[in-house]
Formats: sequence, structure tokens, C-alpha cells
Amino acid sequence: MKSQLLYINGEFAEASSAAVLDVIDPATTEVIARVPDGTAADAGRAVKAARAAFDHGSWKDATAQDRGRVLFKLAQIVRDRATELAELETRNSGKPIVEAEFDIADVATCFEYYGGLATKIQGDVLPVPDNAMSLALREPIGVAGQIIPWNYPLLMAAWKLAPALCAGCTAVLKPAEQTPLTILALASSFADAGLPPGVVNIITGRGETAGAAIVEHSDVDKIAFTGSVEVGKIIMRAAAATLKKISLELGGKSPNIFFADADFETAVEGALFGVFFNQGEICSAGSRILVQRPIYRKFLDAMVEKARTIKLGPGIDRDTKMGPLISREQLDRVQTYQAIGKTEAKVALGGGRPSGGALDRGYFIEPTIFYDVDNSARIAREEIFGPVACVMPFDDEADAIRIANDTYYGLAAAVWTRDIFRAMRTVKNLRAGIVWVNHMQPTYVEAPWGGYKQSGIGRELGKWGVEEYLNVKQVYINLSEEPINWY
Ligand code: NAI
Ligand code: MG
Repeated sequence: MKSQLLYINGEFAEASSAAVLDVIDPATTEVIARVPDGTAADAGRAVKAARAAFDHGSWKDATAQDRGRVLFKLAQIVRDRATELAELETRNSGKPIVEAEFDIADVATCFEYYGGLATKIQGDVLPVPDNAMSLALREPIGVAGQIIPWNYPLLMAAWKLAPALCAGCTAVLKPAEQTPLTILALASSFADAGLPPGVVNIITGRGETAGAAIVEHSDVDKIAFTGSVEVGKIIMRAAAATLKKISLELGGKSPNIFFADADFETAVEGALFGVFFNQGEICSAGSRILVQRPIYRKFLDAMVEKARTIKLGPGIDRDTKMGPLISREQLDRVQTYQAIGKTEAKVALGGGRPSGGALDRGYFIEPTIFYDVDNSARIAREEIFGPVACVMPFDDEADAIRIANDTYYGLAAAVWTRDIFRAMRTVKNLRAGIVWVNHMQPTYVEAPWGGYKQSGIGRELGKWGVEEYLNVKQVYINLSEEPINWY
């Protein structure tokens, strides 16, 4: 199988070394593609192209309207190619095709949103106590290095590229080792969308090599990263050497809180959806399920009954509700936590691997529900990133808030109740960047996304997302022709 190519300076290009990475279909474990194991030299070529496109190319002089039109065109291309892209996403990431279709639609919406926002980036005129005009201009930050994970491959690329292009930046993007295929497929349409050479470059490769080279490069002005807390800390440290701006979207151990008065059936569904969507490989997974004591047992039983009906299988089958995990590594990791959980708590459902037919081939794992989990247990403290739920009881509102906030993370949280007073007090007291009431997981490009505490730095999406790619330039214009006469 011939290796695919890198995308540098508007062209698909050979890598500097012949080394390749196998790309696997996690539903079958078959190798479906090969991509270059990009080197630091390859990253350097991409940065050079991005730097030149930012400093001298036609992109530098493109108007906000021009940039907006490119983003609208990209959105249209994604819609035109939606069937192909969704299928490829499912093959490469394992996720159910119905979820992949939503992802691809969200990719198009993301490009559209930032296409519209391009013409709304404005500065300020400031009243200063002199005969002068003071301005605050908003300018693109420069070359953005963007490093993304494998759970939402093309959507994470869009979350990164769209605001960068909206702001007028250029980009070097590194997809995750496991999932480079959809962004490489879309790159074949970049020129059709009107992107000048060098504005967006795609480097496949490993984090420790290609990724680190982007982070360390002195011609990169900013790093946007989504992934593990561990790597987020490495990137923050490495970025210090050149004082790069950084935005980090890291993990979570998000609480999903159910008060006894919540609408029961919907709440049970919400608990499962919150943690099992996308095989639980989701940064905002509601992996700690806090249930008020009066309904605790009944709620747990209802969760188990409903979770038993979740249809596991290859994502490409339209009735599949849970696909395989992304990789052998992730499967091992989740299985390790299943084993740890058995020593720390009680098992209500799952705890192993499913078998039979297609399930014997891929990286499938059983949706797993632990209960009577103490919040100090490892399964309650560490991000598992798989379909593993920790159910724990609580007494009252104060107890729920205390448990919910007792975590190093602070990405997301949800609260279910019909009592508006309690709902709003809980919203106010939760230390998390995203809080849902009577739902969990709906995400909109219009609304800010990011974490408190060790869940990250900065915000993506909405008008906040573009701020991460802008610099502020203060301009003072003297209007007085009087001599200055200080000396
Ligand atoms: P990871 O954080 O190692 O990888 C994410 C991205 O960072 C990939 O593109 C990778 O190539 C890159 N990377 C890795 N090391 C790097 C380095 N030293 N310098 C620059 N880039 C680097 O995540 P991994 O290993 O795939 O998954 C491990 C755990 O991380 C998961 O089990 C999950 O808990 C968490 N995770 C969280 C995500 C989120 O959305 N918050 C997404 C993916 C993983
Ligand atoms: Mg890693």
C-alpha cells in the first residue's frame, strides 16, 4: 500500500523520510492507509510555507470579505462531500456513521460561522485625555501550530482552522497519528476553496517528533492543542522557550448531577448519552454520575436496563449505537480501568469485552457501569476516555456541589432538576467551563468551549474562539500640532 502525502505550500508533498504510520480501521483492525511519519524537517518545511504566506503572500492582503468567502466555500465543499467524508471518518475513527454525519455537518457549520465572523472583527476607538486619537486594532497573531486528537478528527480540525483563517492567520496542523484521513481528503479541496498556497499545511506524524517540532519552532506564533492533560503540560513547558501564546483544551472528569425531582425517563437517557456517546471518547463525558439518594437504586437499575439495549457493532452499520475504541492502546487503557474499578467499586453492567461476530475483530469494549463509587477512587478521579460510568449517591445540594467540584478538572458539568432555584444555584456553584441544565453534550459553534482548572486554557468556538488568534495593537495618533516642548 502506497503512503499518502503531506500537504505543504498548496501541494501534496513527499516527506523527507520513507517512514510511514499505519492507519487502522478500529472495527476490523485492518490497515486501511499509510501516511508519512513526518519529521521535524517536514514540520519545518510546513512552518516555512506558513510563515511566507503570512508575511508576504496574497493571504496577507486578503480582505475580511475574501477570507469569509474562502470559509463559506470550504463549508460548501464539505457539504458536497459529506457522504464521502462521514464514511471515511467512521472507517478511520470507529464512531457510528450517524454520529459521523452529525460531525461533518458541524464541520460545515463551523466554517460558515467563522466565514460570517471574519467581517465582524473590529477594533476600538478609545477616549484619551489629550488632543489625540487612540485606537486598539485587532490583528492576526501569525502562524498557528495546531495539534488535534482522534476522537473528532475533522471536527477538531475545523474548530482549529476556521477561527485561525477567520482572523487572517496561517496554519500548520498535525492530525492525530490514528486519524489523519479526513483532513488529508479535505486538503485536496483547499485550492478549490480559494486558499492560497501555504495558508493551511497538514503534517502527519507522531506527537513526540512532528508535534514537538511545531511547538518548538521559533517561527510559530501560537499553539492550539486539544488532547491529554499530560501532553498539554509538556506543550505549555515547551512553548515557554519561545513564549508562544497557547490555548489548551484538555480532559475532564465531568459530573452529571441528578436530583430526585428530575424527569426520570429523560434523566436516565441523559445519564447514558452523557457518558456513552462516541464510545465515551469525549472530553466532556459525564463520567461521574451523581444521583440523589431517594432515586439512587431505581435510577441505577433503569440505567442498566437501558444500557443493555445499546447496539454495539462496526460504526458503518446504520443501527450501531456504539462502535469500537480508537486503538489497541486505548482498549488496553480502558480495560486497565475496568480492572481497577472492580477493586474500587461494584459492577452493575459490563466490565469486559463483548464477543461474537464482528465484535471479535475490532477494539470493542462493553459499556460499563460501576456504582457505589467513592469520589476518591481512581476511576472517579482519572480520565478514562471510554464507555465507563461511575455512579455515586449524594444527599443534598451542598453534598452534590462538593463532590462535583472535588476534581482537578473543570471542563463540563450537567444538572437535572425541575426546580429552577436549585438549577440556577447549582449552575452558579459548579466550577466548570460548560454547564448544561436538563441535558448533556449539545455543543454549538456559537457558544464558548473550554475548561476551568486543569481542563485547559482559553476558549474555542464563538466570538471567543477567534480571540485566541488575534493580537491587539495599540495606536496613538497625535492630533495636536503644538510643539511638545518637554526639554
Ligand atoms: P495525546 O494527548 O497524546 O495526543 C493528542 C495529540 O497530541 C496527538 O495529535 C498527538 O500526536 C499529539 N502529541 C502527543 N505528544 C505530543 C508532544 N510531546 N508534543 C506535541 N504533540 C504531541 O492523547 P492520546 O495519547 O491519544 O490519548 C491519551 C489520553 O488522552 C486519552 O485516553 C484521553 O484521556 C486523553 N485525550 C483527551 C482528548 C480530549 O479531547 N480532551 C482527546 C484525546 C485524548
Ligand atoms: Mg499520547
